[in-house]
Amino acid sequence: MTHTARVSERVSRIQPSAIHEMTRLSKEVEDVAFLSWAKPTTDTPQHIKDAATNAIQDGLAGGYSETTGLPALREAIAEKLARDNNITARSSEIIVTVGAIEGLCAAVFALIDPGDEVILPSPTYSTHIRQVSIASGTPVFVPLIEEDGFSLDLDGIRKAITPKTKAIMYCSPNNPTGTVLEERELRALADIAIEHNLTVITDEAYEYFIYDGHKHFSIASIPEMAGRVVSCFTLTKTYAMTGWRIGYIHAREDLARQIGKIHIPLAICAPVASQYAALAALTGPQRCVEEFSEHYLEARNLMCDRLDRLDSVFAYQKPNGGYLMFPQILLKEGSDSATFCKKLLREARVSTTPGIAFGPTGEGHLRLSFCIPNEQINKAFDRMEAYLR
Ligand SMILES: Cc1ncc(COP(=O)(O)O)c(C=O)c1O
Repeated sequence: MTHTARVSERVSRIQPSAIHEMTRLSKEVEDVAFLSWAKPTTDTPQHIKDAATNAIQDGLAGGYSETTGLPALREAIAEKLARDNNITARSSEIIVTVGAIEGLCAAVFALIDPGDEVILPSPTYSTHIRQVSIASGTPVFVPLIEEDGFSLDLDGIRKAITPKTKAIMYCSPNNPTGTVLEERELRALADIAIEHNLTVITDEAYEYFIYDGHKHFSIASIPEMAGRVVSCFTLTKTYAMTGWRIGYIHAREDLARQIGKIHIPLAICAPVASQYAALAALTGPQRCVEEFSEHYLEARNLMCDRLDRLDSVFAYQKPNGGYLMFPQILLKEGSDSATFCKKLLREARVSTTPGIAFGPTGEGHLRLSFCIPNEQINKAFDRMEAYLR
């Protein structure tokens, strides 16, 4: 007799990811042009790789580190937070995590009880939605205002608050829209959090890729927010370190201690060779970050130019951060984004991500990634022009 494991209700409620399904389908298509991957295609800079190799050769990477991370790395992170985020942090307020993902997950588990509501300005990163669901929390979607560059709907957030609301979770720059939330929006959000006794979980994965004079603002830099914010960061995007799985969180010491109780059963500690690589990344030359950012800006401009030529098919808000954008599909058949993206894949050999993966407000859109070489962008758009025109 075959046995089917009785998985938890929590897990069985989770729908298969539209992103992974598109990745699987894309593998079946020959010579596909990828606009669907939100990961840097450049390699990790050499000096960062060397630091990991040296740590391995010197016998430093074979054991666990302190669960919260190597002391030298946490000190380097504290310096970075003071310099670039205007966050005054002690080492004891920092936990090095397995990418931003583990930090976000640990934060959600530390804060959310079953039935608690978490407000997600959306569309938003699909993983946030799943993390809240896995913790048996309820995601509450408050649409961003698309026609205003996907800005925060502060009134909408106020109206969505109920006695069960526990937290607000957002990413800025946003995945999938590329929106950078402005300081004034985040200050107003902080006022709401303070008034209603809510905690804010931030995902600042794309903090260094900001264009057109916009500025990244960390809500934890507001002194009145102390004890109310878990800020999640990662080296994944900044230094093209997707596979190294290294990120970190900052929260006031009492909250960080509670999050540490989740971090240990999830990971014990972040991979130690990667922690040495991260130390080299944070303390070494930063020119590579500027180079990535310059490339993404050029690629964004190219993608916008190419989208302009398809203005009867797509309407878009120009992203001012990150390396993703989220055009609306103007065609009638685009109202079901999953079907539209599958057709585009099969018939034009272009892989994109359906907007529905980013919450209900994402429907009717598709996510395009421009962290790829310009030739790939041109190849994808040449094909789309031939197919959609
Ligand atoms: C907004 C956002 N947060 C986090 C991640 C993943 O970060 P990490 O690799 O550090 O876990 C991604 C990856 O695409 C992302 O887009």
